[in-house]
Amino acid sequence: MKGIVLAGGTGSRLFPTTRGVSKHLLPVYDKPMVYYPLSVLMLAGVREVLLVCAPDDLAAFRRLLGTGAQWGMALDYAVQQQPQGLAHALALAADFCAGEAVWLVLGDNVFYGAGLSGVLQQAAAQTDGATVFAKQVADPQRFGVVAFDADGAPCTLQEKPANPVSDWAVAGLYCYDPNAVRWAQTLPLSARGEREITDLNRLYLARGKLRVCRLGRGFVWLDAGTPESLHRASDFVRTVQHAEQRLIACLEEIAWRQGWLTRAQLAQAAARHANTAYGAYLAQLAQGKSPS
Ligand code: TTP
Repeated sequence: MKGIVLAGGTGSRLFPTTRGVSKHLLPVYDKPMVYYPLSVLMLAGVREVLLVCAPDDLAAFRRLLGTGAQWGMALDYAVQQQPQGLAHALALAADFCAGEAVWLVLGDNVFYGAGLSGVLQQAAAQTDGATVFAKQVADPQRFGVVAFDADGAPCTLQEKPANPVSDWAVAGLYCYDPNAVRWAQTLPLSARGEREITDLNRLYLARGKLRVCRLGRGFVWLDAGTPESLHRASDFVRTVQHAEQRLIACLEEIAWRQGWLTRAQLAQAAARHANTAYGAYLAQLAQGKSPS
């Protein structure tokens, strides 16, 4: 499977901060925001990733993430000239996907919870249709919303509804079969001039091919697209990392646990991050001093 991180958009809710820098490069506590969605793809076992970004940000993303070889991965980049929607960004990935199934993750979303890798791997094991993830929220108006019928099957999808039919928001993580890219290319523009991911998900729903994995208590999903939510996400990461004495979204650790990096490469990564708590954590791992 392949993976796409959507790191375009305008980030207007974070103006003026994001007039000069992509929000995905801002820190969520101790590492750039984009590390978090990238870590989710890695936990799903994805090694080939395309990052979609705005033209002005390409150089900075390349500087930060490079080829991905430092994590035993292959990273590629695509430029989205205008923020024309999530499904538009997916449609740009046709060559990259080359007929394979694909994960799509929003570059400003943070996921955390025990058993997350298992949940992701279950979704990836389905070869036909799409899997989306839903979480109950207090403010469904801000999100795509899904409602379920009496049997618990998804029956309605709404995009940022004024009157939400449920409090289940669709999170920014989607697992699609190979049809998605082609379908995304043919979606009409919505009233706000975007190709909407909710419209793509509706195509799967209409064919009875949309699975909704409900993230229950214990799974945390945050978006970091406003000053308040960015601050809360940083706070969350800091608190959990301190309590657990483990890092969230430490890409070298995940790559090493996946068997994509050797212990020696982990030690080299630690040396590259000398003088930081991040580097000290990597050094501990490389010395075998971590919890399993
Ligand atoms: P949004 O948060 O919906 O949009 P935005 O990032 O432009 O921010 P704002 O609403 O504050 O102006 O986007 C969700 C994610 O998807 C975010 O990480 C950026 C990314 N994105 C793209 O890559 N391309 C797009 O065309 C859009 C709309 C978003």
